Amino acid sequence: MKSIMIIYHSQEAGNTKKLAELVLEGINRVGKFQVKIVNTNEGRVDMEEVAAAHGVALGSPDYFTYVAGGLKQFFDDAVIASRAGKRVTGKPYVGFVTHGGGGGAINSLEKLAKSLNYNPVAKPVVCKKAPAGDAVEEGIALGAALARAVEKV
Ligand SMILES: Cc1cc2nc3c(=O)[nH]c(=O)nc-3n(C[C@H](O)[C@H](O)[C@H](O)COP(=O)(O)O)c2cc1C
Repeated sequence: MKSIMIIYHSQEAGNTKKLAELVLEGINRVGKFQVKIVNTNEGRVDMEEVAAAHGVALGSPDYFTYVAGGLKQFFDDAVIASRAGKRVTGKPYVGFVTHGGGGGAINSLEKLAKSLNYNPVAKPVVCKKAPAGDAVEEGIALGAALARAVEKV
């Protein structure tokens, strides 16, 4: 079975966690995948699990127009793991951000994802506070797009 990781940071109000759960719903609508979902506020990401994943969804709140520290730690760890020979780079990817009125953190997320040679398979979802209205369907569609891309790898 193909595997997908959803790696996100959520700390303040659970807004990004809710968006991550919509991404999961979208993945599950497409088919059966082994999905590992990790909140970087609860600990470091296991690089062996990233290496085993066929695709990744990465989400963060906007903190000072940048990704949250927990997600930045994931990128730091992934670069070091890659240099040590682990296959953590070059995967299909989707990104999502929640914010309080800005949302510029998506630019840092996209840049960091590019540095790992992650291949964006859909336009990122950027949502103010908790997902509501159109953002609900956008989150589900994001997960579905990743799942369809993973089916092809
Ligand atoms: C330390 C900190 C810095 C923040 N900086 C920004 C910011 O620069 N721009 C913005 O739009 N929102 C900012 N916010 C608001 C959060 O991005 C927003 O509330 C987000 O949805 C919280 O996600 P969470 O509930 O998943 O933790 C900041 C929040 C915190 C706690």
